[in-house]
Amino acid sequence: MHTMTRSPADHDAVRGVHTRAFAGDPRVPALVDALRAARAALPTVSLVSTVDDEVVGHVMLSACRLDTTPRLVDVYSLSPLGVLPEYQRRGTGTALVARALAEADARGVPLVFLEGSPRYYGTRGFQDASGLDFRPPTLRYPPGAFQVARLSGYEEWMTGTFVYSDIFWDMDCVGLRD
Ligand SMILES: CC(C)(COP(=O)(O)OP(=O)(O)OC[C@H]1O[C@@H](n2cnc3c(N)ncnc32)[C@H](O)[C@@H]1OP(=O)(O)O)[C@@H](O)C(=O)NCCC(=O)NCCS
Repeated sequence: MHTMTRSPADHDAVRGVHTRAFAGDPRVPALVDALRAARAALPTVSLVSTVDDEVVGHVMLSACRLDTTPRLVDVYSLSPLGVLPEYQRRGTGTALVARALAEADARGVPLVFLEGSPRYYGTRGFQDASGLDFRPPTLRYPPGAFQVARLSGYEEWMTGTFVYSDIFWDMDCVGLRD
């Protein structure tokens, strides 16, 4: 089952999911809280997957920009995606990604970007963004990690540099560091 997060209890549970999914890295639950609290051009989309009322997975979409020649375009970043370790490999992440893309499409957002494994996201609606004339926000992305889903609002002139919101930079959550 997949629902939008609503209550503070959901927010606690979401923090718990990311704390465990990302092996205790405190930046990920903190990123979710900061994105939730931020004012942005597009509302965040926060989806949970539940089993018997327990939150076992979560995905967030947050507002970022594409710097195109005619203008800045509001787009979404898909980050983070996490599933509790004991619930992984049951299709939960796949369903959350599909639902997130459907939400973005329903809101008329043309593009969703992420950094992630091409093996995972490449079969879940995403393509190599560098090969489609998009420029990544950092040179530190591993090859193939910069990915995009083009939705029904996408038009061919929408090429340019993907620009994260300040929160990702403030929290040093762009790209992997050694
Ligand atoms: C990545 C993650 C969200 C996948 O969720 P999930 O519910 O297990 O995924 P699904 O069951 O829908 O999909 C299973 C696929 O994911 C792969 N997968 C699942 N967990 C994985 C892991 N920890 N590492 C690598 N691949 C993994 C499986 O091999 C399988 O691949 P296939 O489709 O080629 O057979 C989940 O493993 C997770 O939370 N990982 C830790 C946090 C993380 O890395 N998030 C992604 C950041 S971009």
